[in-house]
Amino acid sequence: MRQPLVAGNWKMHGTLATNQRLLEALKAGLAGLAGVQVAVCVPFPYLAQAGQALAGTGIGWGAQTLSEHDTGAYTGEVSGPMLRDFGCRYVIVGHSERRSLFGERDPQVAAKFVAAQRAGLTPILCVGETLAEREAGATEAVVASQLDAVIAAAGAQALAQAVVAYEPVWAIGTGRTATPSQAQAVHEFIRARLATAGGAALAGGVAILYGGSVKAANAGELFRQPDVDGGLIGGASLVAEDFIAICRAAAAKGA
Ligand code: PGA
Repeated sequence: MRQPLVAGNWKMHGTLATNQRLLEALKAGLAGLAGVQVAVCVPFPYLAQAGQALAGTGIGWGAQTLSEHDTGAYTGEVSGPMLRDFGCRYVIVGHSERRSLFGERDPQVAAKFVAAQRAGLTPILCVGETLAEREAGATEAVVASQLDAVIAAAGAQALAQAVVAYEPVWAIGTGRTATPSQAQAVHEFIRARLATAGGAALAGGVAILYGGSVKAANAGELFRQPDVDGGLIGGASLVAEDFIAICRAAAAKGA
């Protein structure tokens, strides 16, 4: 059975001092919690800090993007092997902010996914539609094409070593969450798409997270949906008690 995963996406937030308080609070608050995997995806400069604070705990750490290249003259970029050097287990790939603000399109997202796996990292592949796309009835087409681009580049079986995050763009940072049934419908669609591409066993094993304004108050209901295997958490991952409560909600599913 799939184990639930809750991953925090800190985005471009934090300082050494605030991170340390948050990491210590997570360590204390999550110690001994079974039935869920937990990770935090932190800004690059703080990877060493996260690694030092979390080494030996069950909490993993990772980054929010990576280069599609392993090494070379790519000023400002950070590669998969560098992330491995800092003990990362996960890396977010194709977050909607990367797509919309930094021009990442499907082929580059797919190349980053492949680069992450080449380095031994678990990519958390984000897919999701904008409000206009949802209102035009294009949700499934958009999500399918984002998923298919990665399947075409990496092969369907590569998804067995990955996590998918469904993040409707209109729900990210807006306080407007998908209803549990809206989330479940898209998660079910994603799993069916994975089954078509790689078989039912593959599809049944891939964790599909929901992201977009997950809070302590709505996490339980979302995670109770059969195809929602945890969450990718932005704003609420910066508040220890909220993030811990969300992890507990996921653990209740995994128990
Ligand atoms: P949010 O962000 O929880 O603040 O909506 C989620 C994300 O962008 O991954």
